[in-house]
Amino acid sequence: MTIGGCDAVTLAKRFGTPLYVIDEDEVRRACRSYVQEFSACYPNVRVVYASKALMVKAIALLVMEEGLSLDVCSGGELYTAISAGCPADHIYFHGNSKTAAEIAFALSVGVLRFVADSLDELYLIDRLARSKGLVANIMLRLTPGIEAHTHDYVKTGQIDSKFGIVIPNGDALRAVGIAKRLANVRLTGLHCHIGSQVFEMEPFADAVDIMMGFARQAHEATGFVMEELNIGGGLGIRYNSKDDPITARDLAEAVAPALIDSASRYGLPLPSLLLEPGRSIVGEAGTTLYTVNAVKRIEGVRTYVSVDGGMADNPRVALYQAEYEAALANRMAGAGQLSPESSETWETVSVAGNCCESGDMLVWDVAMPRPEVGDTLAVFCTGAYNYSMASNYNRYPRPAVVLVRDGRADVIVERETYTDLVAHDLVPARLRHASARPAAAGSARLDSAGAQSR
Ligand SMILES: Cc1ncc(COP(=O)(O)O)c(C=O)c1O
Repeated sequence: MTIGGCDAVTLAKRFGTPLYVIDEDEVRRACRSYVQEFSACYPNVRVVYASKALMVKAIALLVMEEGLSLDVCSGGELYTAISAGCPADHIYFHGNSKTAAEIAFALSVGVLRFVADSLDELYLIDRLARSKGLVANIMLRLTPGIEAHTHDYVKTGQIDSKFGIVIPNGDALRAVGIAKRLANVRLTGLHCHIGSQVFEMEPFADAVDIMMGFARQAHEATGFVMEELNIGGGLGIRYNSKDDPITARDLAEAVAPALIDSASRYGLPLPSLLLEPGRSIVGEAGTTLYTVNAVKRIEGVRTYVSVDGGMADNPRVALYQAEYEAALANRMAGAGQLSPESSETWETVSVAGNCCESGDMLVWDVAMPRPEVGDTLAVFCTGAYNYSMASNYNRYPRPAVVLVRDGRADVIVERETYTDLVAHDLVPARLRHASARPAAAGSARLDSAGAQSR
């Protein structure tokens, strides 16, 4: 198995496992396809990378080099972008619960837009901007009443979401009126995001129509002219053979005509079109490499293949019942092992993580050559929402991330160490004596606990 021209087993040996491997060309290809396909269909397009999918300095710089802007949704993501040297005037600041400190930080670096998620935030941005003698450019995130996830598309006017300002109950119109009146914000446009891992074009086209209908209503009520419309991200990717995603071209060919048609029907000027893909930029570019530590065969029931990572580096399976595909990187080309039919050495197994949770599984029921301890197991399409959602659960250090291209591998995030794990732990003075005499102190406590329970 090679990734970006690098042998996967060599990568695992050189950098250790678990290891996130990101194929640079794949990320670049995804960026270019968005920019080219949308620019071919619409006059004024800006593609904004939703950095929550994978936010590390090198990736932020890479997508910007491809002409994308950045969507950040926390002070930490903003800090990462700024410290990487990304220009603030290409950054959109999202989030449904921004703090005053985060907003002040974003004002001080001069982000391009705040995407305001509530009336409270609108007032806060205005107040903080006034205190700094600034006018903040803002967009309003609205809830268009569309929920789309994979093939599950609901258009019910459903408004029960923590995100966005509601259209049907009049809040959105009120927010536009308020934004127009506040002296230290300038309302440039509207934003919506209808869901993630979406496989249909129709909900995007419908969302465009709802947003344009609202823009018309807001124009009549307040004189607001929408300069830009952000339709969010959400394009699905192919995690396994059941997934059949639409492409950036499919999306462009559905959304651009819908927007042009709505603008003419509602008598509005064409706004700039903004998109915010995350998963479809980095998801398929990622592979996680693991080492097999144990194989447990329960005859007639299941074979568990335990690897040296799990829900701490990929929480999506436990969190969303996400489905992945996997293969043994060191046994891709073995004789008689190229297809499940060709050899009895194949076996259907389930890949188990190393965390102390029964729910910590990485892949259920995947066919591969009969796995053995020491094999290098690759899980595919882990570029999005894996490293960015990783934790130190069970005090596992977060894995390294390497960027591969043309046979070259560069570490873009170093593997955490045990020292990193305890770097922020503090021990109050009253407990320090315990660490000096662990055995004695421990047994004394046990003795007294035992005495009490008796
Ligand atoms: C506001 C917003 N924009 C963009 C995205 C990116 O979505 P995806 O990674 O599915 O493209 C998200 C994801 O949650 C989001 O909330």
